[in-house]
Amino acid sequence: MEKIAILDFGSQYTQVIARRIRERAVFSEILPFDTPATRLADPEIRGLLLSGGPASVYSRKVPQPDPAIFALRKPILGICYGMQLLAHHLGGRVAHSSKREYGPGVLQRRAGSLLFSGLPRELKVWNSHGDKLTRLPRGFRSAARTENSEFAAIEDPARRIYGLQFHPEVHHTPLGRHILENFVHRICGCGRKWTMRSFIERACDDLRAQVGRENVILGLSGGVDSSVAAALLHRAIGQQLTCVFVNNGLLRKHEAEGVRRLVKRNLRVRLKYVDASDGFLHRLRGVTDPERKRKIIGREFIRVFERTTQQLRGSHRFLAQGTLYPDVIESVSIGNNPAALIKSHHNVGGLPKRMRFRLVEPLRQLFKDEVRRVGEQLGLPREVVWRQPFPGPGLAVRCLGEISEDKLRVLREADWVIVDEMKKSGLYYKVWQTFAVLLPVKSVGVMGDERTYENALAFRAVESQDAMTADWVRVPYDLLAKISNRIINEVRGVNRVVLDITSKPPGTIEWE
Ligand code: XMP
Repeated sequence: MEKIAILDFGSQYTQVIARRIRERAVFSEILPFDTPATRLADPEIRGLLLSGGPASVYSRKVPQPDPAIFALRKPILGICYGMQLLAHHLGGRVAHSSKREYGPGVLQRRAGSLLFSGLPRELKVWNSHGDKLTRLPRGFRSAARTENSEFAAIEDPARRIYGLQFHPEVHHTPLGRHILENFVHRICGCGRKWTMRSFIERACDDLRAQVGRENVILGLSGGVDSSVAAALLHRAIGQQLTCVFVNNGLLRKHEAEGVRRLVKRNLRVRLKYVDASDGFLHRLRGVTDPERKRKIIGREFIRVFERTTQQLRGSHRFLAQGTLYPDVIESVSIGNNPAALIKSHHNVGGLPKRMRFRLVEPLRQLFKDEVRRVGEQLGLPREVVWRQPFPGPGLAVRCLGEISEDKLRVLREADWVIVDEMKKSGLYYKVWQTFAVLLPVKSVGVMGDERTYENALAFRAVESQDAMTADWVRVPYDLLAKISNRIINEVRGVNRVVLDITSKPPGTIEWE
């Protein structure tokens, strides 16, 4: 499959670049900044994109690409630090500047550049850089200027090397997507091959090739990812698939029945229900550290799957999971990307080192919105495709401190109220996630003339496109009041509701 390789120099926007390119129907893949040129020589890679990054080409320990990439004769686009890097490598001069140019600017493009083909003479762009290019490398010319820089965009069309000082991938460069489109289609010559329909066909072929005649079990949680993975596998291998729904004791209210109903109605796959809640809760007893909780849960899931397959007919060598691209990226350190290990997502970093299964992860290359589009393409209904995400470790990561049945009951009741009110208000499907977090903090209150001394509960609502970044939702005050009133009146054990107003970064979506 033809694709664009994005070398990640640690920009907070690297994933956004990948998404923007895929939105142009071209597959893109994020690779470490120092990926060897021999690997990038792969003929399927039609162009290279060097991301921005926090470094300066003049600092001592700077992330450098393999210099041989410039001899590959592939189109290259450098963005921000990526442009300074390529200019520096090719003989230009970059001046260190103590003053950052940050914020909006107006770009004037010169005529005749393929990169700006079809765009107006002037366009709004977003800048965020310290160093500045002061002399062009040989063979280059300026393709656009801003008030502050002669070299806001540079190009060597003969060698098909381009650089942008500003960020075309962000919202604040409204026509940026056309620039990326020109790069991938006109300059790199990619077609519009990355569609969800083509993905499904290819994924089914790959799955059949990977699995052969073996049986596969899939941990189905009823969430978007595992449901879409199940539908895809079902299409690819039919009866060789058995789905296992594990009740880990950390589910929301009525979740177990709800998921069984949902699967029966919409997926028509074979489903085995396993109640393993005692085992999970037993192993979590006394555990307060978030990473330990995640590891214990990840391992216990695998044990349950291993035990379950022994009860099934035939051997099951493969375990399928709905792992997504951001899970994979967030769980490994790419270069000096700040997205380096933050949490062990239960189905990636939380897996035991030794296990009997080989993994099947058909969604590993997809962003969440792509998974949702695949789900729609496979005919799954809105209540599955647009369901809010729920973490694999379930309520465990929303119950700060030690987990107990009583705390889980509080979380379940509060969550039920929140989902109910969000659905009634019509907001549920418009936001990424809404949930309650039970805090290990007690405070004094008064209820019906009596003193209370009970737990505080945080309400969190976030909007996001792919969970990599998120902002807290400005939920209307009246709705907040309703949620808070209902929780305090209906949920025994909570006498105070607080609102979480932290974005990601610097916070994460879940508290643990
Ligand atoms: P954080 O808290 O890292 O969460 O900002 C990002 C998104 O991922 C969900 N999440 C998980 N999903 N297994 C999952 O399948 C996990 O271990 C896990 N941890 C967090 C979280 O709900 C949010 O949507």
